[in-house]
Amino acid sequence: MIVDHKFFQHLQFLVIVLLLSWRTTFEHSTGMKDGIRCIEKEREALLKFKDELIDEYGRLSSWGNEKYKDCCKWSGVSCDNQTNHIVGLDLRSPRNNEESPRNNGDESIAPLRGKIGIWLLEIHHLKMLDLSFNDFNHIRIPQFIGSLGRLQYLDLFGSNFIGEIPHHLGNLSELIFLRLGSFNDGSLTSTNLDWLSRLHSLSDLHMVSVNLTMATDWFQTITKLNQLKSLFLPSCNLPMVLPSSPFNTSNSLLAFVVWENEFSSSWIFPLVFNLSSSLIFLDLSSNKLHGEIPISLGNMSTLTSLYLSDNQLTGKVPCPALSSSLIDLDLSRNMFNGTITQCIGSLSKLESLYLGSNNFEDVIAESHFFNLSQLKYLDLSFSPSISFNISLGWNPPFQLTSVDLSGCKVGSHFPAWLRTQTTLEILDISNAEISGTFSDFFGEQSPKLSRLNVSHNNFQGVLADLSSKFSTFNYIDLSFNHFNGSLPILPHNGTVLDLSNNEFSGSITNLCNKTSGYWDFLDLSNNLLSGQLSNCFANQPNLKYLNLAHNNFSGKIPSLNIHASLHLQNNSFTGEIPTLLRSCTSLTFIDLSLNKLTGKIPIWVGDTWTKLVFLSLKSNEFFGSIPSNLCHLAHLQVLDFSLNKISGGIPKCLNNLTAMIQVDSKFDGAFHLRYHGGFEGACVTWKGKKAEYIKTLKFLKLIDLSSNNLVGDIPTEITSLIMLVGLNLSRNNLSGSLPTNIGRLRSLDFLDFSRNHFFGDIPTGVSQLDQLGVLDLSYNNLSGKIPQSIHLQTFNDTVFEGNPGLCGLPLTKVCPGDESAQVPKNSDNVHGMKDPKEQEDQLIDVGFYISMAVGFVFGFWGVCGTLVLNNPWRIAFFKLLNNIMDWLYVKIAISKARHA
Ligand SMILES: *[C@@H]1O[C@H](CO)[C@@H](O)[C@H](O)[C@H]1NC(C)=O
Ligand SMILES: *[C@@H]1O[C@H](CO)[C@@H](O)[C@H](O)[C@H]1NC(C)=O
Ligand SMILES: *[C@@H]1O[C@H](CO)[C@@H](O)[C@H](O)[C@H]1NC(C)=O
Ligand SMILES: *[C@@H]1O[C@H](CO)[C@@H](O)[C@H](O)[C@H]1NC(C)=O
Ligand SMILES: *[C@@H]1O[C@H](CO)[C@@H](O)[C@H](O)[C@H]1NC(C)=O
Ligand SMILES: *[C@@H]1O[C@H](CO)[C@@H](O)[C@H](O)[C@H]1NC(C)=O
Ligand SMILES: *[C@@H]1O[C@H](CO)[C@@H](O)[C@H](O)[C@H]1NC(C)=O
Ligand SMILES: *[C@@H]1O[C@H](CO)[C@@H](O)[C@H](O)[C@H]1NC(C)=O
Repeated sequence: MIVDHKFFQHLQFLVIVLLLSWRTTFEHSTGMKDGIRCIEKEREALLKFKDELIDEYGRLSSWGNEKYKDCCKWSGVSCDNQTNHIVGLDLRSPRNNEESPRNNGDESIAPLRGKIGIWLLEIHHLKMLDLSFNDFNHIRIPQFIGSLGRLQYLDLFGSNFIGEIPHHLGNLSELIFLRLGSFNDGSLTSTNLDWLSRLHSLSDLHMVSVNLTMATDWFQTITKLNQLKSLFLPSCNLPMVLPSSPFNTSNSLLAFVVWENEFSSSWIFPLVFNLSSSLIFLDLSSNKLHGEIPISLGNMSTLTSLYLSDNQLTGKVPCPALSSSLIDLDLSRNMFNGTITQCIGSLSKLESLYLGSNNFEDVIAESHFFNLSQLKYLDLSFSPSISFNISLGWNPPFQLTSVDLSGCKVGSHFPAWLRTQTTLEILDISNAEISGTFSDFFGEQSPKLSRLNVSHNNFQGVLADLSSKFSTFNYIDLSFNHFNGSLPILPHNGTVLDLSNNEFSGSITNLCNKTSGYWDFLDLSNNLLSGQLSNCFANQPNLKYLNLAHNNFSGKIPSLNIHASLHLQNNSFTGEIPTLLRSCTSLTFIDLSLNKLTGKIPIWVGDTWTKLVFLSLKSNEFFGSIPSNLCHLAHLQVLDFSLNKISGGIPKCLNNLTAMIQVDSKFDGAFHLRYHGGFEGACVTWKGKKAEYIKTLKFLKLIDLSSNNLVGDIPTEITSLIMLVGLNLSRNNLSGSLPTNIGRLRSLDFLDFSRNHFFGDIPTGVSQLDQLGVLDLSYNNLSGKIPQSIHLQTFNDTVFEGNPGLCGLPLTKVCPGDESAQVPKNSDNVHGMKDPKEQEDQLIDVGFYISMAVGFVFGFWGVCGTLVLNNPWRIAFFKLLNNIMDWLYVKIAISKARHA
């Protein structure tokens, strides 16, 4: 799936409106010319205003600096070049990295914080105020902003304001541009929009993720804004309302953008038709539109961009409803069916055509495209009933920039016509049942490709030198094919490289032998690669994710600089955990399991890897004791030291692992979300079967210390970890009695204390663990009567075997004095055993899909670190937006301002 382009489309428009209409005006009137002296009173007001702000990043250091007496020269300040009054304050937070979206932070790089001082009111001539992308830490929008009576441009977007929007903003009668809201949840609200109706000059109204659930007057209000050109109300929970009386159309609205609301088609289309007869941009995507598109849509002859994706629209492609002016058409993610009629081929202005994820059934032929000479973006993805019948020598009328045919029947070999496309930047033919070789595709291409996804096909053969085929910002996914031979020579720099699940063999020197390689995400897992890594990744400053799992690498773990996720499991690495890994302080995920690593678990782990969520050292040769510093890992959710030679006791401080106490967790796998439009998922072997934890990793909380040489007793502190789902201490030399308050671990699904030397009674608390799916207490010295509960008796008696002193159900050994109470074992099912189906459902409720294959499996989980790509693009959109915005500000300069 190609989603990036869509972000650009939405944003391009937003940014064009924003930039072209206003910002330039104020850049012209800056006081950078000599001779301007700012007005003393305004200068003082600015300094007092600055005093109340917290400027951690020194963005306002020019303010009040001796060198700049003239406040018109202070950063962000513009003055009128005739009256010398301050007219503009542009305090928008600079964005991370202006050239590319390849940066870490989701937040502004240098936000201003603190208070917005009332001193602003002294600047009577202020026309432009931009405080966007700062962090005002959940304060309300100050009412006094409504008294800046000359404001024409006000931008408070993305700056962490909450609460009701003050109706005082309705006093800004000269306002032309207004932008409020944020990319995340709607923490700004407005219960009615009556205040807006006083803004008679308003041309651009952008409210993103503002909760307008109660604003039933929203439509009535916009009919009163006669100057309105662009209306953006995405993710605003707009209520469905029908205007009570006929309304005058403003006739000037050009863009109506209301994605992610609750609209259904029966009423929104006529409303839009009446609102404006000159609309050029209509975005109703991600609503609940159903039924067919009304034919009258075809009367909107000015419409150039129509976005209806992600609804439940039905019927055939609505040819009469498609105006011949259309440039962008997005009908993807609906329930359209039938054939893709050839009328599409006559929309001669079409540049982008998105039809993916519908129920179309068609054989695509040359005639579908006969007049599409302008086409640049084509998406037919996830249409399993679409196949291609295109002659070998076809020379298409277009030169595409982006093609997404993933999940279509493209044909058994690489489509020959794609070779004629010499300007391709994005190509996705993943999961398209293609086999054969792939290399010759690159024959004619100009090196512009930035995104290539051919994963999940049957491509085979050796790959040639790819180093000159890609642009610098690139994404290469060749995973799940049968490519073999040694790794191809790859581009020096890139973002995502996924070569996993192929048959590549040999060493990875091709990848290491780069002095200027900059990758963010490298996945080489599940291949036949081998050899030592020496200092392979030492020069990779951006690496966030490295997955070399399931290969045959050997030698020591090299010095690495990984920012998020490191997966080295199932190789033959030897030696100790290198001290140099200490510098990777932002690691969240480390899997070193199934290697031949040795040494003690370094004490510094707990003090430097403080963001760790997942730590597995399973199945190595680590020895020594568990350092108590590990308890500092407050975010840790999965701790697996099983199958080592670890000795000593279990640290008492485990109750400091607070993530195992909290219901939720902060971990959202943001990095993968960014690149894959899906949450990070881990592939977990649960009770011997692989199960995928999709977006629910936050519920996965496990401690596995099994198969070591641990001694001593179980610290009662462990029973504080109330959100633990799995606890495995089996196959050690632990002794003492079982913690009496074990019943507190109510979330436990897996509990294994088998093959130790525990003695005494089984605490009655065990019978309170009603989520328990697997229990094993066998081969200890437990004695006395097994606590009687309906749930406990459903377990197989092997769970208790090897404890000669135990008696009572489900064992056949009757406790002294209980002889007469013995119930025949066969009746268990009748009143005891949970219906397996019901139990499974419960587990799904807490976020798991686990196989119900009950039975003890040695070492009950392991992670294979696969990524799960199942997330609506809109979520990714919000995450990505901050970064993409940056990029767009640069890209915009070269983009066509077709909507101007
Ligand atoms: C003030 O700025 C405007 C807009 O750029 C320009 O046209 C005008 O010539 C300037 N006036 C002076 C006195 O510099
Ligand atoms: C501004 O608006 C508020 C609320 O809408 C109102 O109470 C106030 O009188 C208006 N005028 C000024 C000058 O603030
Ligand atoms: C929006 O506001 C309504 C009413 O105040 C509230 O019930 C609802 O939960 C809010 N929605 C969100 C997403 O905050
Ligand atoms: C398209 O879907 C509709 C129901 O939405 C159905 O009645 C119709 O038969 C379908 N047409 C085709 C060609 O599958
Ligand atoms: C790779 O990126 C780095 C840093 O952005 C740059 O200095 C270097 O020139 C790039 N190398 C190539 C081959 O593009
Ligand atoms: C690195 O690559 C160059 C040319 O591609 C080659 O000559 C050199 O031997 C390689 N070095 C290593 C250590 O593989
Ligand atoms: C555990 O947490 C407590 C309270 O936060 C603290 O005093 C103690 O030092 C911590 N112990 C360890 C070993 O981290
Ligand atoms: C208990 O488990 C053993 C071994 O898995 C199996 O052979 C036996 O049939 C099970 N007994 C019951 C009653 O389920």
